[in-house]
Amino acid sequence: MAFVTIRNTGERIEGEAAVRDFLTANNVYYEHWDTDKVPSRLQNVFTLTEADKEAILDSLKDDIERLAQTRGYVKWDVIALSSATPDLDSLLRKFEQVHTHTEDEVRAITAGSGVFIIKGGEDVGYFEVHLTAGDVISVPENQPHFFTLTDERQVVAVRLFIDPSGWVAHPYADPSFEGQS
Ligand SMILES: [Fe+2]
Repeated sequence: MAFVTIRNTGERIEGEAAVRDFLTANNVYYEHWDTDKVPSRLQNVFTLTEADKEAILDSLKDDIERLAQTRGYVKWDVIALSSATPDLDSLLRKFEQVHTHTEDEVRAITAGSGVFIIKGGEDVGYFEVHLTAGDVISVPENQPHFFTLTDERQVVAVRLFIDPSGWVAHPYADPSFEGQS
């Protein structure tokens, strides 16, 4: 289950309702899916064939289509990152730059874990959203953020898009961020 830490204060926010309230107040959408629906042979597996990815999408079809309908997503896929991913370190270095997008960034974690670091309002500053299987997050368009893995360094996530071309990272130069990573 997701928890949030606020970088400036070290405050930790736990529990589904408290996490959702905090994220909502910071324009970040959050919900939780039952990832037990994923076929057991694909749970906690991080090296996936295209057929495996299709099977994961199919098992979560109802949740995906409901979310897609309410928020206007037209396309979805599965991304898997682990030590088996070629050049994982350089990929992570690329991910770990603060950036924005012209559409929201949606990720439903289905295995492993990951962290979104997001810029909140002036009074909040950067906060970390720690996600595990079942956590679904949408970072709004134009909100500075980046993604990284946790110490386990493996994740599987469903991505949903309004327009695939929207998933272009625009670097966000933020002097207030320097030295905080
Ligand atoms: Fe992003």
